[in-house]
Amino acid sequence: MKSLSQKYLLSVADLSQKDIDLILKTASKMEDIAFHPVKKNAALRGKTVLLCFFESSTRTRASFEIAGKRLSADTINISSSGSSLSKGESLLDTVKNLEAMKPDAIVVRHSVSGMPHLLSKHIDCPIINAGDGTHEHPTQALLDLMTILKTGKKIKGLNVAIIGDILHSRVARSNILLLSKMGAKVHVAGPASLMPPFLDQYGVEVHHNIDTIIPKADVIMMLRIQKERQEESFFPSLREYSRFFGLNEKTMKHAKKDVVIMHPGPVNRGVEIAPEIADGVHSVILDQVTNGVAVRMALLYLLCGTEVSLRA
Ligand code: CP
Repeated sequence: MKSLSQKYLLSVADLSQKDIDLILKTASKMEDIAFHPVKKNAALRGKTVLLCFFESSTRTRASFEIAGKRLSADTINISSSGSSLSKGESLLDTVKNLEAMKPDAIVVRHSVSGMPHLLSKHIDCPIINAGDGTHEHPTQALLDLMTILKTGKKIKGLNVAIIGDILHSRVARSNILLLSKMGAKVHVAGPASLMPPFLDQYGVEVHHNIDTIIPKADVIMMLRIQKERQEESFFPSLREYSRFFGLNEKTMKHAKKDVVIMHPGPVNRGVEIAPEIADGVHSVILDQVTNGVAVRMALLYLLCGTEVSLRA
């Protein structure tokens, strides 16, 4: 069985082209299982996957759990409340104790950037980063890549516009890394106060007005304003933000006829994207969620699977 070049998935930066191709190929083999009468495959029978979500999640947590279960793994959910973290145990002690129970993979989401990296220095079991602070969300970028490819678009030379709160977005960083690596031209747009300093090193084009990017974008990825990561105010009001950076019928008039609209969720309808655009013909937002299960099945299989046929 082919496997990834590393036993952890911490950052998109660690993925080779061969790894990315293998993940996408494996995910495309996995996606059919969702349409089988019995949505189960024995690939991870006897394996245990710990889902350690120390920060809120709907899509990523459910997606990893469904992915594990569809491959017959035993999935165990751990969160801050209800675990001994609430009694003062350190995260490292918690995860070391969980590792002592011999899981086959640990999926970690944490509000602190770099936490999965830190754990990987002390833990031997494969770790998958399910989102760490403002740093990275590698599985989201991989499912976004799969979603774009499934629209029939070629990544090389594709103009991808990522619009919104770039500063606090781990989705933006992972997508910038992955899509640039695959040959796309990534543009970002948003208020100057929500632009991180690292953009120069990735050859990203920065726009402070969406009118300059909407007409040339093949893919528009809208981002939520991450209020939970903002201790100060980065713009005068949500209303004003929406007026200048929101995607709506008026701003969409200037978009390409075959533009693809994406959003990692959760969506704040009426703020960064109007409901009619989120639910409109160009939107692939729910396809992203569907593809997320296939990508996470692929990753669990590649990181802790054994040689078993992928056919049910
Ligand atoms: N896209 C994403 O990470 O969503 P959740 O926070 O609901 O997992």
